[in-house]
Amino acid sequence: MNKNNPHEIVLEIKNLFKKFENKIILNDLNIKISKGKSIGVMGPSGTGKSILLKCILGLTDYNGQILYNGKLLERKNREILYNNSGMLFQGGALFDSLNVWQNISFKIMNNSSAHSKKDSILIAKKMLNEVELGAEIFQNMPSELSGGMQKRVALARAIVNKPNILFFDEPTTGLDPLTTKAINELIINLINKKNVTSLIISHDPLSIQKICDEVIFLTDGKIEWHGNVKEMSNSKHKMLKDYLNSNK
Ligand SMILES: Nc1ncnc2c1ncn2[C@@H]1O[C@H](COP(=O)(O)OP(=O)(O)OP(=O)(O)O)[C@@H](O)[C@H]1O
Ligand SMILES: [Mg+2]
Repeated sequence: MNKNNPHEIVLEIKNLFKKFENKIILNDLNIKISKGKSIGVMGPSGTGKSILLKCILGLTDYNGQILYNGKLLERKNREILYNNSGMLFQGGALFDSLNVWQNISFKIMNNSSAHSKKDSILIAKKMLNEVELGAEIFQNMPSELSGGMQKRVALARAIVNKPNILFFDEPTTGLDPLTTKAINELIINLINKKNVTSLIISHDPLSIQKICDEVIFLTDGKIEWHGNVKEMSNSKHKMLKDYLNSNK
C-alpha cells in the first residue's frame, strides 16, 4: 500500500465521541482502515463496540468525523457508504417474516436499480452457493433454519450488493465451536476472495486472531491497545493480557 495515498484509507474515524445523556460511551476514538485490510474491535460487553458500528452506519448521532474513501459522511450522503457496504448484525437479525431469498435480495429489490423477482431469486440462489448452503432452501423461513444456517443467510444478505467494505457485529456469538470455526473460515474466504475491507466486532480473541490483520482493544469506550494481530498474544499490556487470559 502507498501510505502517501489518502485514497487507500477506506474508512477513517476521527475524534469520535458518543454519549447517552451524561454517560460517555465512546471517548475520542481514532481509527483508520486501509483498503483490503481487516480490523477487529475486541473488548468486554457494554464497552461500546456495537455503538461504534451504529455511529459508522449513521444509525445514531455522534460528535466527530467519519470519512469513507476520503469523503466526510453526513446525514445527506450516507448512501455512499450504504450502497457499497454490507452488514452482519449482532444476532444475525434476519427479517422473520421474509423467506430466505427475500432476506438475501432485500437490498437489491429495494434500491434504485431494483431487480425483478425472477432475477432476485436467481441472485439469492447464487449467494446461497457462495456461503456454502444448498439453493433448495431459498423458500424456507428463518425459523426453519439452524443458528449456523441463519448466520450464513445473513452473510449472503451482507454480500449481495458486492460491497467493498463489510461490517460484522459478533458473527459467531451463540454458535457451537465447530460452527464458529466454519463461519470464521467462510468470512476469511469471502473477504480474501473479493479483497474487501472489513471491520469485525467480536469479544472472541480466537475469531479475531483467525480473521483480522489488526486489532483494537476497546474498554470503556477508549482504545486501550491497537496493533498487529500477531503481536496481540505477546503484548505486555496488563488489561489486554487479563482480557485474553479470561477468554481462554
Ligand atoms: N439507546 C441507548 N440508550 C442508552 N444507553 C445505551 C443505548 N444503547 C447502548 N447503550 C449503552 O451503551 C453502552 C455500550 O453498548 P454497546 O451495545 O455498544 O456494547 P457492546 O460493547 O456492543 O456490548 P456486547 O459485547 O454486549 O454486545 C452500554 O453501556 C449500553 O448500555
Ligand atoms: Mg454489541
